[in-house]
Amino acid sequence: MDKTPRFGHAIRHWWPLDTDIDFLNPASFGATPHEILAAQSVWRDRMERNPMHFFLDVLPLEVRRQASLLAEFVGADADRLVFVENATNGVQAAIWSHLRERRDAGKLSAEREIITTDQVYPAVRNMMRLAAREFGTGYREIHIPFPLSGADEVRDRIAAELGERCALLVVDHVASPTGLVFPVHAIVANARERGVAVIVDGAHAPGMLPLDLDALDADWYVGNCHKWMFTPKSCALLYAAERRAAHTHPNVVSLTVGKGMPAEFDYVGTRDCTAFLCLEASLEFMRRLGIDGMRRYQSDLVAEIRPRFSAATGVDTPAPHDMTAGMLAFPLYGARRMDSDSARQLRAHCYRTRKFEVPFMVHDNHMLVRAAAQVFNEAGDYDALLELLSEAEFNKVQTELGWN
Ligand SMILES: Cc1ncc(COP(=O)(O)O)c(C=O)c1O
Repeated sequence: MDKTPRFGHAIRHWWPLDTDIDFLNPASFGATPHEILAAQSVWRDRMERNPMHFFLDVLPLEVRRQASLLAEFVGADADRLVFVENATNGVQAAIWSHLRERRDAGKLSAEREIITTDQVYPAVRNMMRLAAREFGTGYREIHIPFPLSGADEVRDRIAAELGERCALLVVDHVASPTGLVFPVHAIVANARERGVAVIVDGAHAPGMLPLDLDALDADWYVGNCHKWMFTPKSCALLYAAERRAAHTHPNVVSLTVGKGMPAEFDYVGTRDCTAFLCLEASLEFMRRLGIDGMRRYQSDLVAEIRPRFSAATGVDTPAPHDMTAGMLAFPLYGARRMDSDSARQLRAHCYRTRKFEVPFMVHDNHMLVRAAAQVFNEAGDYDALLELLSEAEFNKVQTELGWN
């Protein structure tokens, strides 16, 4: 029997993480183990030994083969699943593809607005505002409170805003500021019923949550592999429903223009695609960890630290446990400042003086702290953070930062 400890600190050395920090934010940019980085180096060597052979003979076939493996993992038709460098890129391609098609079909005078929720990732907010200006639509955010009663509240608040005037709904699968898992099946079903196109931004979902994209039937789905699937940075997926694939185009026009999906996405100029080519290595790594066991460890760890966060912050559970998977956020009602610069200052202060990495974010005029539970974390990793969240300590830090 394999006696290797499967999770926690016993496997932390599989990652090149600095040993003197508690790394509580494997979510923002991911964390890639040595063995997958080694697989990437092998691909880079192959690329540089004969770039002509690599780009013309190897890469086209290999990108498709690895995309097929990913498609199988997320329950999608491989012809409609492509690699993009990151979720930002994929969401932008989907938004622009859809709005161009609606404009060209003369539909944008009736479908006058694009909507999302106020838990939207800030870069997606920026691109939606820009798209609204470029395509002459309105832009609106549906308020999703936090603390929150449950998934039905998210579903109902969104359903209440869907109508004929909506050209597009963009909704998160796992919301960035709160880490909450939104009920995307119900949200997509409601949108489809009302004839509203929907992009699901699943930046945090692949790896963290089981996915069946064909069954979900969103018009587009975007997900990162570099966050919770352990691939090197710059590996993400864009999926289009069959009804959308023909007018789904990359943000950059290249040699493959007019060839449709997936060819237009598979080649967009000379770039380093080696992160895409590590998909197979990442699947092997996760399968060796045990995919169900990995997800159970992450959500059990979140369940274990949740009451400790409640005790430290004095906030009762801000959302039901069934809305969380690998991440957990709490509002800090004692915060004296609530803007993104202050959130960045807090993070930097924690790293500099207390040696842990955790993000602070502002949502709905509250400062939130968000922790993530990866397979190399253990409950004790959060102790220094929890100590900081006690009222006296948090006040001390705010004073040290000059927040009077
Ligand atoms: C919901 C959401 N969308 C998009 C992104 C952007 O991801 P990337 O930086 O990989 O493009 C993030 C990043 O955290 C996110 O949380």
